[in-house]
Amino acid sequence: MTRHFLRDDDLTPAEQREVLELALAFRDDRYVRRPLVGPRAVAVIFDKPTLRTQVSFTTGVAELGGYPLLVEGKLAQIGVRESVADTARVLGRQVAAVVWRTFEQSRLDEMAQHAGVPVVNALTDLFHPCQVLADLATVALHRGGVGRLAGQTLAYVGDGANNMAHSYLLGGATAGLHVRIGTPDGYPPDAGVLADAAAIAERTGGSVAVVGSLAEAVTGADVVATDTWVSMGQEGEAAARETPFVPFRVDAAALAIAAPDAIVLHCLPAYRGKEITADVLDGPRSVVWDEAEFRLHAQKALLTWLLEQS
Ligand code: NVA
Repeated sequence: MTRHFLRDDDLTPAEQREVLELALAFRDDRYVRRPLVGPRAVAVIFDKPTLRTQVSFTTGVAELGGYPLLVEGKLAQIGVRESVADTARVLGRQVAAVVWRTFEQSRLDEMAQHAGVPVVNALTDLFHPCQVLADLATVALHRGGVGRLAGQTLAYVGDGANNMAHSYLLGGATAGLHVRIGTPDGYPPDAGVLADAAAIAERTGGSVAVVGSLAEAVTGADVVATDTWVSMGQEGEAAARETPFVPFRVDAAALAIAAPDAIVLHCLPAYRGKEITADVLDGPRSVVWDEAEFRLHAQKALLTWLLEQS
C-alpha cells in the first residue's frame, strides 16, 4: 500500500520511532541505505520560499542514490494550468515520490489521492511535519536516544495557529511528549488538530495543553521552541502580528524558568530580537544548527521508510 506523510500522525508511534532511529543512523553514516539507486527521481516542488527544505531534500535524494528533480512551482502552476489530480497522475507515472510545499492542506491531500507514489508534506499552511521529525531527532540526540523522548516536556511559544504549532501537537503527542503551546488570545491552534493530538497523547502517555502565558508554557520545560510570528503568506499582517506576541519572546528570562538543562529549538529562519533574542539563539542552550542538519537525515529516513512500504 502506498504510504504518504501529509501530517505528523500519518506515522504511528512505532513507525515514528523507526524513522527517528533511521535518522540517527543516517547521521552516523550518510550512505547507510540507498533505496533510490537507479537513479530513481523524486520530484521536489515549491509553491512558497525555501532554503533548508530545498537543500535537504535535493541533497538527501542524491545521497539516497536518486535524482532530485526540482520543479519550480511558478512554472508548473499546479491547479492553474492543470488540476492537482492530473499533475499527480503525470508525476506518479515518472517519479518514485513527490515532495511538495504548498498552501492549503487540501491540495496535498488531492495529490496523494491520485499520485500512486508516496507524497510528502514539505510544509503547508497547516503542518510542517518534516521539520518536527528533525526536531524530535535533535531532541533524541541531546537526550540519549529515541527511547528517551517520551515524557519530555516541550514548550512552544508564539503563534499557536501556525503550521509549527500544529505539527508539534501531533508529532509531539505521537512521541509521547508533554506539549505545551503558549500563545496570546486570538491565535489558538486548530480545534480539530488539538483534539486529534489529545487523543494520540492519551494512548502514548503524553499530553497537550494550550496556555495563555509564556511562563505557564516554559516553566520547567525540557525543550523550548519558537517560530516566526509572521509565516509565509502572512507578510501583509506583519504589523498587526507584532504586539500580541512580544510577551512570548524567548529571551534569557524565559530560559531561566525552563529546566536547568533545557535546549532551544527554532525551525529557522529566525528573526533575532523578535520571537527570540540573539543571546539565546546563538547561546549554549541552542541546538538549532543540529536541528537544521537533521532536516537532511530525517527526510532521508522518511523517504527510505515510505519507499519500503510500497
Ligand atoms: N511557520 C513558518 C515556518 C517556516 C519554516 C512559515 O510557515 O513560514
